[in-house]
Amino acid sequence: MVIIGGGIAGMRAAIEISNAGLDCAIVSKVHPVRSHSVAAQGGINAVLKTDDSWEKHAFDTVKGSDYLADQDAVEILCKEGPGCIEELEEMGAVFSRDDQGRIAQRPFGGAGYPRTCYLADRTGHGLIHVLYEQVLKRSICVYDEWHVLEIVTKNNSVRGVVALELTTGRLHRLNAKAVMLATGGYGRVFSSTTNAISSTGDGMALALSAGAPLMDMEFVQFHPTTLKRTGILITEAARGEGGHLVNASGERFMKRYAPEKLELASRDVVARAEQKEIDEGRGVNGCVLLDLRHLGEEKINAVLPQIRELSIKFAGVDPVREPIPVRPGAHYSMGGIMTDVNGKTAVEGLWSAGESACVSVHGANRLGGNSLLETIVFGKRAGKEAARFCVEGPGMRDFPEDALKECASGVAALFKRQKGESAYRIMEEAGLVMSEHCGIFRKEESLSIGLKKIRELKERHKGICLTDKGDVFNTEFQTALELGCMLELSEVILLSAISRQESRGSHFRLDYPERDDGCWLKHTVTLKSGKGYAIEYKDVNITRFKPGERKY
Ligand code: FUM
Repeated sequence: MVIIGGGIAGMRAAIEISNAGLDCAIVSKVHPVRSHSVAAQGGINAVLKTDDSWEKHAFDTVKGSDYLADQDAVEILCKEGPGCIEELEEMGAVFSRDDQGRIAQRPFGGAGYPRTCYLADRTGHGLIHVLYEQVLKRSICVYDEWHVLEIVTKNNSVRGVVALELTTGRLHRLNAKAVMLATGGYGRVFSSTTNAISSTGDGMALALSAGAPLMDMEFVQFHPTTLKRTGILITEAARGEGGHLVNASGERFMKRYAPEKLELASRDVVARAEQKEIDEGRGVNGCVLLDLRHLGEEKINAVLPQIRELSIKFAGVDPVREPIPVRPGAHYSMGGIMTDVNGKTAVEGLWSAGESACVSVHGANRLGGNSLLETIVFGKRAGKEAARFCVEGPGMRDFPEDALKECASGVAALFKRQKGESAYRIMEEAGLVMSEHCGIFRKEESLSIGLKKIRELKERHKGICLTDKGDVFNTEFQTALELGCMLELSEVILLSAISRQESRGSHFRLDYPERDDGCWLKHTVTLKSGKGYAIEYKDVNITRFKPGERKY
């Protein structure tokens, strides 16, 4: 079995496959501990106390999702969460502790109970290292700095992948009984994002080309607090620990938008409020201010040490003495590869878990702290089911002879081209188009202009020329590959956003400002169709929680 992506979901799945006594390989563009999961800061949600319950967690998650999450999947997430935290502890994960020595939990946005477990503000860092230890312990093979070019299929079933070894430029075929995509999100599609440069959505684009539909791609989460200029994440934990958001006149403006939860309303609500303050002239140089000063130096150093360091190094602001300038930035993709609750996609033998997948537990807006939980719960489930498929399924099947040759001739043609545009320039333009036309506030006219521009950039991408013709670590070539995926996903995001004529969660249409359950309580499902895409719809699985008014 081949797992593409060495982040938390990919490694958790690999551990499960190895525990089943099977062979698997992780193929990753970066070394596993450099995967974007390492950047997760604020924590991982789980019900650990007796006055909390999985039902309360599920309700918060469904309400946060603006009732678009599939409630059977949410139930699994919330019920299996606590056991997964115990397993992580047994593996050696370190969590911050409360004064009774229990795992400490902090309040997070949209949650009715403080249930976010954390390791200061470096939770992802802690978890990824523990999982990597487990990968080493099991001698799981890792091909790091390998970039997958294609998922090879025949008759709608997976046969393996073609991958580029970045250190040598050699192409390889990996024949496999099953393939799992745990490749994370596509935040880099936007010019301002919290995401690592590797988060280019390759897995989603590969799945689409292999015939697996993408679901709910219009739902892009904009995190309310990203650092001025660089877009570096300033964790929601800063507000969970008591930080205030203020505008240019020092007003705690969230009082006007979410009178009860204030800064701890769900992310879509806070991000929109901030953008409104900025757009209506109450911001400070394109930002609002996150004030932590009243928390005091000791507390900031204890629970938000990285936030202090990042603010000093990247914005020249010490939060002990000054408020941090922040603004909303692209952070997370609620949409992704459509899977069932075991990570199975529509293509036989193809699985997905983590941010690249859409199970869907986040619906139209994810709660902070539920993403790490999803990677662990559904990484494990997908690993288990994929292992079962490898044992009970059709086994290793032929790898189409021409697949490697076709990839190689595409690569050769690109390297041969002597004239053309720079991939970097197109990537920069595409990011600006997406931020301008498909941001927090959307409108048909602007979305359509964005779509036209992205299609033009897609045409220009066909004529790019590499200035670096070398084999070894050719990052320009890699950028060209990633750009192809990003443009494809941008088109899908825009098409889905145009199609959804309502406002729900992170998708706010100025021309359709209300949620419309009558017409739109359904998922969008995008498939490749000829040279374009077709959008279909799928019912939402509603079990316990009937859609209700959403107020914070
Ligand atoms: O704000 C944060 O620490 C991010 C957490 C998350 O996206 O779950």
